[in-house]
Amino acid sequence: LARQTPISELKDPQKDEDRVKKGKDQWLVMVGVCTHLGCIPIDDKEHYKGWFCPCHGSIYDTAGRIRQGPAPTNLLVPEYAFLSD
Ligand code: FES
Repeated sequence: LARQTPISELKDPQKDEDRVKKGKDQWLVMVGVCTHLGCIPIDDKEHYKGWFCPCHGSIYDTAGRIRQGPAPTNLLVPEYAFLSD
């Protein structure tokens, strides 16, 4: 679903493929803190099937990209590395 989204629809344009490292669809590692004011987004079964921040209504898609609401950027992908398979 995330890969079918036109980049032009995104507030913080980033391809799903650029947010994952291993296997290009196996793992998505993100910091689970809303980029608006720091609340903790919860599982979202409706909108974009990603995460919903109950504090002010930001909605992130399955790639953690901001789709609606006041959050200015996607959920942060931290620096990380896989040490083995
Ligand atoms: Fe998440 Fe405001 S802290 S929407």
